Amino acid sequence: MEPALLPFIILALLLHLRPAESPDPACRNACGSLTVKYPFGTGYGCGSPRFHPYVTCVHGQDDDTLVLTTHTGSYPVTSISYTTSSLIISPSDMSTCTSMKPSPNLGLDWSGPFELGSSTFVLLHCKSPNTSLTIKDLSICDHGSSNLCASMYACPAILALGLPLFSPTDTCCVYSPANFDSKGELDLQAWECDGYAPVLTLGDYPTDPARWEYGVELKYTQGAFDSNHMDTKCPTCENSGGVCGYDSPSLAFVCVCGGGYNTSTDCHPYNEVQGIIWSSASFPSRMDRWSNLGYSGLVLFAAACSMNQSVRRFFFHVGINS
Ligand SMILES: *[C@@H]1O[C@H](CO)[C@@H](O)[C@H](O)[C@H]1NC(C)=O
Ligand SMILES: *[C@@H]1O[C@H](CO)[C@@H](O)[C@H](O)[C@H]1NC(C)=O
Ligand SMILES: *[C@@H]1O[C@H](CO)[C@@H](O)[C@H](O)[C@H]1NC(C)=O
Repeated sequence: MEPALLPFIILALLLHLRPAESPDPACRNACGSLTVKYPFGTGYGCGSPRFHPYVTCVHGQDDDTLVLTTHTGSYPVTSISYTTSSLIISPSDMSTCTSMKPSPNLGLDWSGPFELGSSTFVLLHCKSPNTSLTIKDLSICDHGSSNLCASMYACPAILALGLPLFSPTDTCCVYSPANFDSKGELDLQAWECDGYAPVLTLGDYPTDPARWEYGVELKYTQGAFDSNHMDTKCPTCENSGGVCGYDSPSLAFVCVCGGGYNTSTDCHPYNEVQGIIWSSASFPSRMDRWSNLGYSGLVLFAAACSMNQSVRRFFFHVGINS
């Protein structure tokens, strides 16, 4: 036998015996129950480089959680709308009707790609809303929505904030900011408020706060880097089953396929190689298996000789890992 053929036969044997096994992909398209697509990523090198310092997939005991980290803390992302470019975070220290607790300030980083969406905050147990919750002497509280306060103050959980049930609502403030302050924060400390309940929607139950939806809506924006570099290539990559990422330090676009295989375009060459491996794995009898091994060795040899450098790198990589 031609000695040069031997490595490819061995490679084919390894691929043949373990066709479905591949190392954990560097970038995943899901985190917990959330679909993770560009510009979000599950880790370094995945998604958009502008999002990476802020959003990452954290491995938990039971499940993975996509987490947004800012200068004030880390907040679980509970949903993403790719059509409206928005997401919802549920800070663990926010209050709802069933659970109220004191909270530190909630903040976003100005340098990041996130800004406040259309959120309504019910600020709870503030020292003197009418005098301290002002901007340029105007109260920030929406007195027309004070019915939300009355509803929240009827939740038994209010006791946890040191208030009696149905206490007067003059320590409560309904605040719907267009943006956070110059520090990028919901400044509960300055306003001397204990907690906040971010109300997403009252749904069909405007007077039953136990059935409202809670969470902080954020919008995300994509910068010049993304539109020039990624937005055209990424859909092609995702359509071929890949995950969009970037190289470092060049920040060049990378399409991350399975099995540790990266391309600058899409996963179709990788999918074809997987197809060869799968079809060669489906011969049943032992004889067929061996003759088929010779066949896949030849196919792989021919493929490795004729194909691109990137495809050859894939073979090499799989060979080492096996
Ligand atoms: C593929 O790209 C991902 C994301 O950038 C990176 O983490 C991984 O190391 C790359 N794999 C290879 C084999 O270059
Ligand atoms: C706070 O101000 C609003 C409107 O300016 C007023 O209706 C309300 O009675 C004030 N509350 C207190 C406790 O002064
Ligand atoms: C080789 O790579 C180039 C770009 O890198 C691509 O246009 C071409 O289709 C590839 N050829 C094969 C056989 O994969």
